Amino acid sequence: TQRDILLGKKILITAGPTYERIDPVRFIGNFSTGKMGYAIAEECAARGAEVTLISGPTALSVTHPGIRLIKVESANEMYEAAIDIFPRMDAAILSAAVADYRPEHTADEKMKRTEGKNISITLIPNPDIAAALGKMKKPGQLLIGFALETTDEEENAQKKLEKKNMDYIILNSLKDEGAGFGYDTNKITILSRNGEKKTFGLKTKKEVANDIIEHTLIPFFEEKKET
Ligand code: C5P
Repeated sequence: TQRDILLGKKILITAGPTYERIDPVRFIGNFSTGKMGYAIAEECAARGAEVTLISGPTALSVTHPGIRLIKVESANEMYEAAIDIFPRMDAAILSAAVADYRPEHTADEKMKRTEGKNISITLIPNPDIAAALGKMKKPGQLLIGFALETTDEEENAQKKLEKKNMDYIILNSLKDEGAGFGYDTNKITILSRNGEKKTFGLKTKKEVANDIIEHTLIPFFEEKKET
């Protein structure tokens, strides 16, 4: 049945923000809470999948024994873990809000204030985990990303999907009240490689997780079973 198609499937999920250290007490981060990614991990595990969850710093914990949690802090650490694990996976869902840049240098000691002086921090690009996994992807593996756009949402998300060699991209709406960072609800549009588009209403992140599973993972594994 549709209910046990995920049984034993190996699914990698990234979640949460990354912290990029400036000095021992400061970092550059973002407002991601990890709730969407953790919800996807729990729902996949509830359907019998073997989930590996690579998580940036969050206040969340995992409950299902079918989830292996790997905690990381920075984009680089998340990248190393993800490229190590992805070859053994059937699918990956990348929901982490990875910092695009990090400070070129992390100070060994707490940076001091000099009264009346500006300071600047040079930021250098972080690796793009999604693009790296897109390059590594083998036939039989499914890659799903997220997008959070503020302009030309669908067009930009579709471009991103193609550029990073993803099969689906989940577009988070920022315009809708209750959707996105921090909320317990979300409103998504699923875009597929072949240009299909499915829009959903405002739902709890648990319900959204199940919509994502039912419209991406399940059709993929159903098709795989037949061939
Ligand atoms: O390019 P953009 O950051 O908007 O792409 C978003 C998608 O790419 C998300 O799935 C996000 O998890 C992933 N991503 C990543 N590594 C990065 C940046 C984004 O995996 N360095």
